[in-house]
Amino acid sequence: MSIVFNPDSRLFVLSTKNSEYQMKIDEIGILLHLYYGAPVGGMDMSYRLWHVDRGFSGNPYEYQEERGKSLDTLPQEFTGANVGDLRISSLSIRGANGSRSCDLRYKSHEILQGKYKLDGLPYVRGENGTLAVEEDAQSLIITLEDALIGFEVKLLYGVFEKKDVITRSVIMTNRGKDYVRVNKISSVCIDFPYGRYDLIHFHGRHCMERQMERVPVKHDIISIQSKRGMSSHHHNPFVILCDEDTNQTQGNAYGFMMMYSGNHKTEVEKDFTDSTRLVMGLQNSNFAWRLEAGDSVTAPEVIMTYSAEGLNALSSNYHHTIRENVVDAKYYNLERPVLINNWEATYFDFNTEKILQIADNAKEIGIDMLVLDDGWFGKRESDHTSLGDWFVNEEKLQGGLKVLADGVRERGMKFGLWFEPEMISEDSDLFRSHPDWAMTDPERKPMISRSQMVLDMSRKDVQDYLFERMSEIIRDADIYYVKWDFNRSVSNFYSKELPSDRQGEVAHRFILGTYALLDRLLKEFPNLMIEGCAGGGGRFDAGMLFYCPQIWCSDDTDPIARLRIQEGTSYGYPVSTVGSHVSASPNHQTGRSTSLKTRGIVAMSGTFGYELDLTKVSEEEKELMKQQIKDFRKYYWLIQHGEYYRLTDDREQNYFTAWEYVNAEATEALVNIVITDSHANPELPYVKLHGLDPEGWYMIEGGDRKYKGAALMNGGFVFGMLIENMMKEPDNYPSEMYHFVKIG
Ligand code: GLA
Repeated sequence: MSIVFNPDSRLFVLSTKNSEYQMKIDEIGILLHLYYGAPVGGMDMSYRLWHVDRGFSGNPYEYQEERGKSLDTLPQEFTGANVGDLRISSLSIRGANGSRSCDLRYKSHEILQGKYKLDGLPYVRGENGTLAVEEDAQSLIITLEDALIGFEVKLLYGVFEKKDVITRSVIMTNRGKDYVRVNKISSVCIDFPYGRYDLIHFHGRHCMERQMERVPVKHDIISIQSKRGMSSHHHNPFVILCDEDTNQTQGNAYGFMMMYSGNHKTEVEKDFTDSTRLVMGLQNSNFAWRLEAGDSVTAPEVIMTYSAEGLNALSSNYHHTIRENVVDAKYYNLERPVLINNWEATYFDFNTEKILQIADNAKEIGIDMLVLDDGWFGKRESDHTSLGDWFVNEEKLQGGLKVLADGVRERGMKFGLWFEPEMISEDSDLFRSHPDWAMTDPERKPMISRSQMVLDMSRKDVQDYLFERMSEIIRDADIYYVKWDFNRSVSNFYSKELPSDRQGEVAHRFILGTYALLDRLLKEFPNLMIEGCAGGGGRFDAGMLFYCPQIWCSDDTDPIARLRIQEGTSYGYPVSTVGSHVSASPNHQTGRSTSLKTRGIVAMSGTFGYELDLTKVSEEEKELMKQQIKDFRKYYWLIQHGEYYRLTDDREQNYFTAWEYVNAEATEALVNIVITDSHANPELPYVKLHGLDPEGWYMIEGGDRKYKGAALMNGGFVFGMLIENMMKEPDNYPSEMYHFVKIG
């Protein structure tokens, strides 16, 4: 049993293979958080509580002279508000009488077999998942309430024992007679009573997403958030809290990943007793949700995991969970198509003939799918117009989309198509006929970005229109794949359909509307494959991955910039979800020139494809591309399902980046190395490998030296040849993929 409740000690113990999580109901019904970390054998960890009068930290009324028992110093599983815990809180509410107090006490709990589901929100799948590792997920639902006002908070826990994962979500229900306004809702609150921690988070910008940053947690509040209506390029809804000496291979690390694609916030506070609290939930500066009697609101799910063995192991837990229990099960064993996308080849300037010329060349090199990007609809000759007018532009695509799609299929490839469903151009027939569908403030000019506005996805009529337009096109042209884009931050959150005191709900309702549309389309077209995208990787989150097996990682296709972007992404997300393409050199975003080989090696750490004008590449390049596609197919399962290890660390001053895949049997490993800087008289180039059989013997395919697994892992692999070759044949960013095979 991974969830045990002891009615005498009123202790909850949640156990996974390598972690334990404890909560306890105290004498007056406060749900205390006792422990999260390496297993402690179920020992009641309340012995660590130190009840001393701290001064200026008052007590609940029931405790009277027991001054050491203060909500301000006790570790809480989920805080109330305005009743004595003066640290960051898990919620904020306002009752009809204006009171903002909420005093939560334990009411009941239930333990269920299987994993709970959420209505209208993505979640880690239990029995519906791929379950490559057989799991008996269990769920715990604890109900807390403020009996005076009838406000109920259900804490949901899903325990995946073999994956070392615990999920959390929260449902708030108004069981009172009057309305309650929820001004803040979190999914997770967790207290660590002592320790010196670093917070690792992933910030960025358009074309430079998920840059890993590691900061010490000091006596203040760190807040990582997005108010952009999207999970954002700027702050991914994923953080790691770890000991200050944790590195890739050793040390305690705790991950918190929100399965959500909209506004989010994570706060971390080290308080006056040196205890650290982390709260993660919906960003709340413009949030207010009105709950009438009987109504509920749900906080998105957070995937928590713990590793005692550093950051690589923590990432591995996320990789398995996302591949096996977040992404739709059917993609687990389905080889994803190698694609050619026309965006960087043609931008808006194409017609049927041009695309079919690209298709001819794509067929020749062995590509599986052609994706027609932006510009095929309405009067879309530039990014100034036509979003929302999802009707084929037959001036560009003579005879319609089906003629082109059939042409691509005749060449033996699948056909995919770009949409940006949630957007509307001011210059569009849709805006002219439905100005109220755009999310704008009444009478105020909207903020315009890339000449576009955002559709009010909270409206059913907007969802219906998009469903109908997209369905017709998908059906008529028999589309296999959709690239689902989202190219601006959201402002002017306002729905003309909602009353004034519900406008604080719009940002969340917007995402719920997007999820509803995704869900409906996938039910209508069960074989449709959707790749997420938001100006590159602006919505790279586990929420979108519930619907889309892969997400375009960044609009920056420069392989050297991509190394950092993909490395940052790898902390939480598996390679099988990372959309990455080989593009032209010099690169369109950075102007940097790199070899086709290096571009291929970097793009292969993802779903792989090409995004350049294949009618303009030389025969020699085509031959290399053919080989790259063969290599990608050869290593497909090793890359997509192998254990992934970062071999170089951001904190070390390396002049190269290296990463490795190892299969489950440890009979094969693929080591990728890219030189990112040229050092004169360079330091010894070596990496220590991971995951091999220490007793086994390995050879590099095509090489002649035998290496013992233990030697490669403890003594390292020296790749002097790569540097020597670079000296002989100058190449700015040389790279190599070494395929190690176990020979005995
Ligand atoms: C976004 C995407 C690109 C491309 C363009 C089209 O920027 O990330 O890949 O589809 O939109 O406008």
